[in-house]
Amino acid sequence: MKENLNWKNKEVVNIYDEISLWSAPFGRLLLENIPMNQGATILDIGFGTGFPLIELSQRFGEQSEIYGIDIWEEAIIRTKNKIKTLGLNNITILEESATKINIQDHQIDLITSNLGINNFEDKEQVYFEIQRILKPKGKLCITTNPIGTFDELFQLFITIFE
Ligand SMILES: C[S@@+](CC[C@H](N)C(=O)[O-])C[C@H]1O[C@@H](n2cnc3c(N)ncnc32)[C@H](O)[C@@H]1O
Repeated sequence: MKENLNWKNKEVVNIYDEISLWSAPFGRLLLENIPMNQGATILDIGFGTGFPLIELSQRFGEQSEIYGIDIWEEAIIRTKNKIKTLGLNNITILEESATKINIQDHQIDLITSNLGINNFEDKEQVYFEIQRILKPKGKLCITTNPIGTFDELFQLFITIFE
């Protein structure tokens, strides 16, 4: 599936929400382990079609400031529609790569990323940016799928069914 999916195809975003159930258990684990502080400033890196960005906005409430950063144009449009429909006013969307984040040094209490950073091309630069914008006691809370995990599973399928 990975090879067949053309992320530039405008239709892909319409089904992404349907297939994102695979990411839900990881996201749930992430949400269960984040510190909940009123008035926190949060950044969600690689929110795709709005997960967990929108959930964070609702859980932390209006006193909090939630940023989301992504580069996937169609998914950003979809997320903005969700934000508008839900009437959420504590979210700022950054339409840029997490390799250069438009946030001042040491502003963020919590950074999240659900199955995001480990799939990025320039991870080292993203972690450099994370360190720069986190407050000294800020927290980074991510989920990650080890590279190649699913390759092994798919290889097994091929061996069995061919
Ligand atoms: C596997 S998806 C995860 C989406 C969402 N967090 C979820 O759980 O469904 C990874 C996301 O990271 C985004 N992404 C990839 N490279 C990026 C970068 N350099 N900066 C920001 N976002 C990036 C992709 O556009 C995509 O939306």
